Amino acid sequence: MDNMNLTLKIWRQKNAQDKGKMTDYNVTGISEHMSFLEMMDVLNEQLINSGDEPVAFDHDCREGICGSCSMFINGEAHGPVKGTTTCQLHMRSFSDGDTIYIEPFRAKAFPVIKDLIVDRSAFDRIQHAGGYISINTSGNTQDANATPIPKENADLAMDAAMCIGCGACVATCKNSSAMLFVGAKVSQYALLPQGQVESKMRAQNMVAQMDAEGFGNCTNTGACMVECPKGIDLSNIARLNRELLSGSLT
Ligand code: SF4
Ligand code: FES
Repeated sequence: MDNMNLTLKIWRQKNAQDKGKMTDYNVTGISEHMSFLEMMDVLNEQLINSGDEPVAFDHDCREGICGSCSMFINGEAHGPVKGTTTCQLHMRSFSDGDTIYIEPFRAKAFPVIKDLIVDRSAFDRIQHAGGYISINTSGNTQDANATPIPKENADLAMDAAMCIGCGACVATCKNSSAMLFVGAKVSQYALLPQGQVESKMRAQNMVAQMDAEGFGNCTNTGACMVECPKGIDLSNIARLNRELLSGSLT
């Protein structure tokens, strides 16, 4: 179908102080081959042409790797298709005549800046608290391939490294917990020899920062994993808890 007509109910909020409200729009001539963000571009062109303010939304790569396209679509982070970011969601997942609800990711630690854009710098501060490794910078650096790593650990570390920091896990969690994100970041290093230098403090420091930012506690509901576009597994939270425990014992 090359000519879908849709009703959009979109959260409009002028700034962080504004109360915000849902506003109705109609878009016409939407192709099923368009991405969801291209559909939003069509709406914004329409708004600009009629002298209205376009809807502010975050995006960068538009290919599922930067994690910036945060939107709650019909009550689901990144919309209805599993394992898919908003930018990779296509309009063929919707039908002519549909009404689509579009809201920002909501969490105390992700305040709305404008319309659909939220401030996710809390994730950056958590990363800065421990999401890094120390390496030999002497000029005599050993080739990374000279360090043996069990295949299973290399695969699990790669799976954890798939996290794009989008925040869908937080937006989906009833407690606004960031444990899946932090679990992925801690696991990525905990599984590799290169991550051992800071291993005692990494989990402690990142979780302390997570708490300071106002994210909630994990109650093992698992909604985060269901909505994560990169399939980050709950076992990463278990590994984070083991790292926390071993850090606190030594
Ligand atoms: S764990 Fe998944 S949902 Fe959470 S930030 Fe990473 S990629 Fe996004
Ligand atoms: S715009 Fe980069 S992941 Fe969607």
